[in-house]
Amino acid sequence: MMSSSATAPEATATGTCTCVVGLQWGDEAKGKLVDPLAEDHDIVVRYNGGANAGHTIVRGGRSFKLSLLPSGVLNPRLTSLIGNGVVIYPPRFIEEVSQLREAGIPVGTNLLLSDRAHVVFPYHMEEERLSETDGGGAIGTTGRGIGPCYQDKVGRTCGIRVGDLLVPEYLRDRLRMIVPRKNRWIEALAAGKEAKKFDADALAQEYLGYGEALRPHVHDTAHFLRKSLQHGKRILFEAAQGSLLDIDHGTYPYVTSSNSSPAGIWSGSGLPARRLTRVLGVVKAYTTRVGRGPFPTELTDGPDGLGEAIRRKGREYGTVTGRPRRVGWLDLVALRYAAEVGGVDELAVTLLDVLSCVPEIAICTAYEVQGERVQEFPADARLLEQAKPVLERLSGWYGEELTQVRRIAELPAAARRYVDRIAEELRRPVRIISVGPDREQTILP
Ligand code: GDP
Ligand code: IMO
Ligand code: MG
Repeated sequence: MMSSSATAPEATATGTCTCVVGLQWGDEAKGKLVDPLAEDHDIVVRYNGGANAGHTIVRGGRSFKLSLLPSGVLNPRLTSLIGNGVVIYPPRFIEEVSQLREAGIPVGTNLLLSDRAHVVFPYHMEEERLSETDGGGAIGTTGRGIGPCYQDKVGRTCGIRVGDLLVPEYLRDRLRMIVPRKNRWIEALAAGKEAKKFDADALAQEYLGYGEALRPHVHDTAHFLRKSLQHGKRILFEAAQGSLLDIDHGTYPYVTSSNSSPAGIWSGSGLPARRLTRVLGVVKAYTTRVGRGPFPTELTDGPDGLGEAIRRKGREYGTVTGRPRRVGWLDLVALRYAAEVGGVDELAVTLLDVLSCVPEIAICTAYEVQGERVQEFPADARLLEQAKPVLERLSGWYGEELTQVRRIAELPAAARRYVDRIAEELRRPVRIISVGPDREQTILP
């Protein structure tokens, strides 16, 4: 057997890599947690999704909404990085940067954007609009062109990357090839209905302008990350969406088009997954879902029901589209699955304060599927549609406000039992509890 005394350079890495990931269908308050956690890191990285994400961060009563930029960008000491796995809609990037600057937050070359990230064009949004309104097959997407852009990335013939926006001749030629195809495809999808048409040269002109605006941020971010790790930097990965929306591991086809679990880190950032040192899984104290797809614990009890009470108290309306989020009880079957898929080490439980509004709480410990009791999360969305939740009723802490609580010992006993139960069922410790939108409203160990 051959042996060598040489050590792979990456094996000498001394930095740390943590990932914050949602374990449900998104909106678990990842942004709220990433903001304070970022303080102990040097680099915050988005590795998946695009402007379909919506993260609300509240600091000292001021609210910030981010769709495309990593939540770390609120702290200018850090490097914020958008990896190659993200899809970029340049007008949104530019808009978020200028909103932050107007709010007095400096954004400059501390914000890095991968030259390999794919670019969303308006024809992607038109394709999505038409396929979402074409009768069957609608997913209930955010309409941000995410799916069609990833389709072009994987299909290769029509994909355009951020680096291409800096090369005028190449971009023009490519769009002259792509746009007529897109127009034909859009016309076919429209099937006689009204649809937009696009002009290659006008789009090239527009996007070359965006390219100039993006240029100071464009970087070989994968190389930067690997070097940074070797130099001992502390890296925080911020997943967008939730693990149950993961293209491979989620409730397909009612998912997003990227790996929103930690599975996406390697491909979406270029940093080898085995460098990951810690995964923090974020669990909302109940479940929400926007868009279509199976949701076994959904509360569909009407305007006077518990679901509506939770929606109102938790302000469960989509950040990106304003759609009311579907609301339901905590689903331990789905959570156990998501925690395993993501290699989760520890947990954060968020929006615990919201459950003060309901006199009783239930958790789902198993499903009944076709007359059988099931503990495993089914891969088939059709089976999941039929799954009836096996619910266990728990006493709650009705009427007791948690928003002022800062120490575990101050929580009502029922709330502490609820958190302990989550830790037990998921066989992972709960390290953080969130009791309100403001970063101060957090219980740390
Ligand atoms: P993300 O997509 O995972 O970052 O989550 P969103 O920002 O889309 O959704 C979480 C919502 O809950 C936001 O409006 C937050 O301001 C709010 N929020 C975050 N943590 C808490 C909490 O502990 N309690 C309450 N009541 N609201 C919270
Ligand atoms: P954050 O990061 C909640 C959902 C959409 C739809 C499905 C596919 O805020 O948690 P897409 O536009 O991605 O093709 O839509 O995924 N979805 C989200 N739901 N939070 C998100 O992001 C989401 N991003 C996409 O509602 O059901
Ligand atoms: Mg969100």
